[in-house]
Amino acid sequence: MSNNCLDPISEIINSRQKAFALNDVCANVCSFATVAIDGTPRVRIMNLNGISGRFFELHCSEQSGKWQELKHSPAYELLLWWPCVARQYRIRGELEIMPQSLVEQSWLRAPYCFKLLDRFYEEYQPLGSKLQNQKLLLSSLNNLKIKYPSEQQVPPPQHLRGFYCKADWIESLYIDDLRVHERHCYAYIDDQWHHELLVP
Ligand SMILES: Cc1cc2nc3c(=O)[nH]c(=O)nc-3n(C[C@H](O)[C@H](O)[C@H](O)COP(=O)(O)O)c2cc1C
Repeated sequence: MSNNCLDPISEIINSRQKAFALNDVCANVCSFATVAIDGTPRVRIMNLNGISGRFFELHCSEQSGKWQELKHSPAYELLLWWPCVARQYRIRGELEIMPQSLVEQSWLRAPYCFKLLDRFYEEYQPLGSKLQNQKLLLSSLNNLKIKYPSEQQVPPPQHLRGFYCKADWIESLYIDDLRVHERHCYAYIDDQWHHELLVP
């Protein structure tokens, strides 16, 4: 593997900024794959809350399937696909749990309707549990609106969790209809990124 000190994270941040500028609907999200307790794969869309250094920040509920899976096996793959800039990034590495105070600070900036739904998980039924009908959910959310009439009054629930995907392996694929694709592989070894070009 060559050691030409390219930094794939800056490249990802630049691509994401371009994707945002082009109103790419995927710029704010990622696909996050985990391994279920029975060894089968699971994948879902999540908001990508931020990128800083090698850390990709994601949030979920302690009640969610993914949190239970990560507790059992920290293995994951994060996939970023931004059609407007024609870039795919696959990211692997270690998992780091976010300090609870930061999770709560970030939750305070969430939209009112999401905050109420998070309260529903805490005060009515847990995330993913069987719901009798949609009307029940809507009327419970209305009750929560009466209980917490403004955004500032909604208290953070106990089940909030956050974690960082700390990248140590990244594969970038540049797609362009007019020319041959480019595939780059980066591994973080001895405090620096090492780069290899692969057959796309
Ligand atoms: C655009 C979009 C953004 C989402 N963001 C999140 C998120 O940040 N965190 C999360 O736990 N689920 C998020 N979800 C819901 C997940 O895709 C998934 O349905 C849910 O978390 C349950 O997954 P699990 O049972 O595998 O944990 C999002 C879904 C969509 C469509």
